[in-house]
Amino acid sequence: APRIFSGMQPTDGSLHLGNYLGALTQWAKLQDDHDALYCVVDLHALTVGPDPAALRERTRRTAAQYLAGGVDPERSILFVQSHVAEHAELAWLLSCQTGFGEAGRMTQFKDKSAKQGAEGTTVGLFTYPVLMAADILLYDTALVPVGEDQRQHLELTRDLAERLNTRFGAGTAVVPEAHIVKAVAKIQDLQEPTAKMSKSNAGGKGVIWLLEDPKKAAKAIKSAVTDADESYGVRFDPAAKPGISNLLTIFSAVTGRDKDEIAAEYDGRGYGYLKVDLADAVVAFLEPFQARAQTYLSDPAQLDKVLADGAARAREVARPVLDRMYDRFGLLPRG
Ligand code: TYM
Repeated sequence: APRIFSGMQPTDGSLHLGNYLGALTQWAKLQDDHDALYCVVDLHALTVGPDPAALRERTRRTAAQYLAGGVDPERSILFVQSHVAEHAELAWLLSCQTGFGEAGRMTQFKDKSAKQGAEGTTVGLFTYPVLMAADILLYDTALVPVGEDQRQHLELTRDLAERLNTRFGAGTAVVPEAHIVKAVAKIQDLQEPTAKMSKSNAGGKGVIWLLEDPKKAAKAIKSAVTDADESYGVRFDPAAKPGISNLLTIFSAVTGRDKDEIAAEYDGRGYGYLKVDLADAVVAFLEPFQARAQTYLSDPAQLDKVLADGAARAREVARPVLDRMYDRFGLLPRG
């Protein structure tokens, strides 16, 4: 079966609805007919200098949310990035193949480093996309399910894979494809519906956190910014009606109902009705999700065992790929 790899950063105490709809639901769907690896990318989270105790806690919480979202460790390999040292090893090889200017053109780096200033920006933040490319190429990955914001990083990964094949011979790396499901690839912020819902909108009222009090989530939906359009027209039209369109996307994704059918039901009735029913639907999704996550978190020893088992299985896939790369690069066999 085609190989899949994807990951999320454990940068917060909770994933948000964009992570869930853009990535996690796709992961759960794809694991049946793919050979899937799902990773908590804790090394990536180090780029923002987290408190050690918080990072440890968030890594477990992220893994618990993968499980609550339907990642099944029987069908997929679920593990933590730092448990498989090969990620960091391959990242070094790829660093030596990545242009300084090329890395500097990554828009996420430009945005984050602009916010933090030159002194607050680490070399790790700069090489972040190289480590991400290593994550992917380490498993001869064919498909990478992500949201829209990862597209440029995926392009860099593909460029690197092609470069390796040119410099070191065909078959050095598998060139991966992004798997981006357009309908849910960019969930927008509820308060600022022209910007993506993002972990970095700290304290923002426009983010739905999967592990927050469902009452708060309901409130966030009810106070979502809708469009300054007096007609109460409900239709899917992201350019003219970004707020309503985002709510329709979320409504459709959490209920499995068709967007246009939902739009027709609320058209002309006032946005309040739509928001109240959507808030109920989101609460109905969050409550059982949180109960499942809680079950995994209540037994950290068992969770750690699942992760250790995943890491052992991931290493078995990773080691031969890394050995092949070392050989192609001309490093002496260790014997
Ligand atoms: P991260 O942790 O920021 O986000 C995790 C996943 O959620 C998607 N996502 C969204 N999808 C829809 N709407 C949104 N508003 C939204 N916000 C985030 C992201 O696109 C992502 O799929 N660099 C990656 C982590 C990573 C990775 C990898 C991913 C490291 N190595 C290898 C794939 C393969 C990141 O920071 O994702």
